[in-house]
Amino acid sequence: MYEQVSHALLNDILDEFSHRVVREDLRHFYTRLGANFYAIHSLFEHLYGHREDFKEHMVALTERLAQAYIDRPHALKQLDMEREEDHNWFLSPEWVGMALYLDGFAGNLEGLIDRLPYLQELGVNMVHVMPILRCPLGASDGGYAVSDFRNIDPRAGTLEDIAALSESMRKRGMLLTLDVVVNHTSNEHEWAQKAREGDKSHQDFYYVFPNRDVPDMFEETLPEIFPENAPGNFTWDEEMGKWVMTVFNEYQWDLNYSNPAVFIEMVDIILFWANQGADIVRLDAVAFLWKKIGTTSQNEREAHLILQLMKDCCQVAAPGVLFIAEAIVAPSEIIKYFGEDAVIAKECEVAYNATFMALLWDAVATKNAKLLDQGIKSLPHKLDRATWLNYIRCHDDIGLGFDDADIRTCNYDPYAHRRFLVDWFTGAFEGSPARGRPFGVNHKTGDARIAGALASLAGLETALEINDPEAIEHSVELILTLHGMMLSFGGIPLLWYGDEIGTFNDCSFLDDVNKANDARWIHRPRINWDRADRRFDHGTVEQRIFDGLKRMIAVRKNTPAFADFNNRELIDVSNPHLFVFLRTHPTMPTSSVLVVANFDLTPQYLDLEELSQRGLFRYGQLQDLVTGDSPALFNNRVVVPPCHFYWLANQRARATF
Ligand code: GLC
Ligand code: GLC
Repeated sequence: MYEQVSHALLNDILDEFSHRVVREDLRHFYTRLGANFYAIHSLFEHLYGHREDFKEHMVALTERLAQAYIDRPHALKQLDMEREEDHNWFLSPEWVGMALYLDGFAGNLEGLIDRLPYLQELGVNMVHVMPILRCPLGASDGGYAVSDFRNIDPRAGTLEDIAALSESMRKRGMLLTLDVVVNHTSNEHEWAQKAREGDKSHQDFYYVFPNRDVPDMFEETLPEIFPENAPGNFTWDEEMGKWVMTVFNEYQWDLNYSNPAVFIEMVDIILFWANQGADIVRLDAVAFLWKKIGTTSQNEREAHLILQLMKDCCQVAAPGVLFIAEAIVAPSEIIKYFGEDAVIAKECEVAYNATFMALLWDAVATKNAKLLDQGIKSLPHKLDRATWLNYIRCHDDIGLGFDDADIRTCNYDPYAHRRFLVDWFTGAFEGSPARGRPFGVNHKTGDARIAGALASLAGLETALEINDPEAIEHSVELILTLHGMMLSFGGIPLLWYGDEIGTFNDCSFLDDVNKANDARWIHRPRINWDRADRRFDHGTVEQRIFDGLKRMIAVRKNTPAFADFNNRELIDVSNPHLFVFLRTHPTMPTSSVLVVANFDLTPQYLDLEELSQRGLFRYGQLQDLVTGDSPALFNNRVVVPPCHFYWLANQRARATF
């Protein structure tokens, strides 16, 4: 019965189209619209059906989809079809990503084209270029305050440069990832400007209030994202004479998705960037898309419906494009951003694995894998055809968002344990070599997060300064092991630029008034290309890290078991310092890889007998895929050196595929 309502409406819309769009070949568009329209209509009605102008908006949305399809370049339409055929393409181990700030890595878009060979040398074939849309000249939250969604920041280049970049990347078999900041705009955006001038229809794009009544109700349950430099969630706008919701910085105005016009604009913008050649669109801060009094206004059901609707719309006009959900929320909530069902309620194909990231850092500080193991064990099963974005560092802080119950299972007190981790990584804990900074410290709740470059957090900066060869060795090994975990866990690994050569904290942000109050800038470096050249000097830390990663990346790409088919089995071992899991390709069971990491500073033993008795891993002659060597064995126990990891395969079995 509901289908009939949507069919009737679709017929009206298509009749309308056939009068106006005669020349275009819309065959594929019609097929995809037909296949997705029932879902689109149902979701749109669920969100906006109570409005008198519902049908008008429904028609407007469909028209935008048709226009986006018509505007989509031929080469991208071809890619859409290839990816529809090979729909598991992104689950393959061949993809390895890096995220980077354009100015710090290559100056501008032209510079990035020149640096593509460097990325290829490492094996990176997916590049997330951090926000480059027009944004305020001063503070802009690293470009996450967008003032024009359809133009490139002149400091980065032009739309033509993006076209050249995407073409050059496509020729090289590389994927381009761009951000669409869906949750908010800069206060300099045209919509905000019009709202400030008193335009009611643009005030409706945001959450605008004449007095504190509603804001005060919201504040009762809203947490603070940046408690130090942007306390509270509302900002008084002098010009408008009203309060506006600003969950992040005060110059970032939250968009109001209860207004269908906002949704339609954002879908249009997503498709605009898809048509400029983005293979993957990173949807920023998706947990925040729906606000409700009396809640934290994160992970609301409607936020999920909006994402499902965005996905369905994208399937119609640019089906080859993937979505990354940036939702740094509790483990049980993150998983929901893949959608509840891959057929009828899909959302984003890819999501940041913030849980794994934070757990890896826990293992670094505690030198054991207890919480890492427990946290991964509690992670709910994810959908097929959805994959993680695994990372160790990114442009943001490290939030210690583990589950309290998991922390307790490991016999730690949640508050004291988090306190220990912050102290460890900021170097306040006796004996810690880490050099991070606290971020997002909230004195009211006692919460704190951590900023800092990977190599500085992992102790390499300190080790080199005191020139302690053993400490240098451990830190280099640790950096490689952390990468070894994200490269083999299952999902797309995402390196952070600079980490491939062990870049340290960069404190120059303190001299810039627009950055000084946001410690995340400490780990958003300007690459020192002279240092990068040391990757050619044998024995330097740059060479050891770069070559180590390069080797691991190459091996990953050739290891079928590392494809993500939810084919990971966590293995309980009696040694708490070890993190152990098995990866098995569904159709090539003999090519399993046993991943073992030792987070301790002393050698540890993995008892193979223990594994084989439980029928987990039948071993013959073992080989470490990274080095090609056989690891040292003693009484059927594999010796894992300090801070080291192995990707172990059965030599005989490997010879058979
Ligand atoms: C996302 C970004 C973060 C930014 C925030 C607000 O979480 O990753 O850098 O501060 O959104 O846009
Ligand atoms: C919080 C938010 C996340 C944001 C980050 C920035 O973790 O959930 O979206 O990127 O803060 O610090």
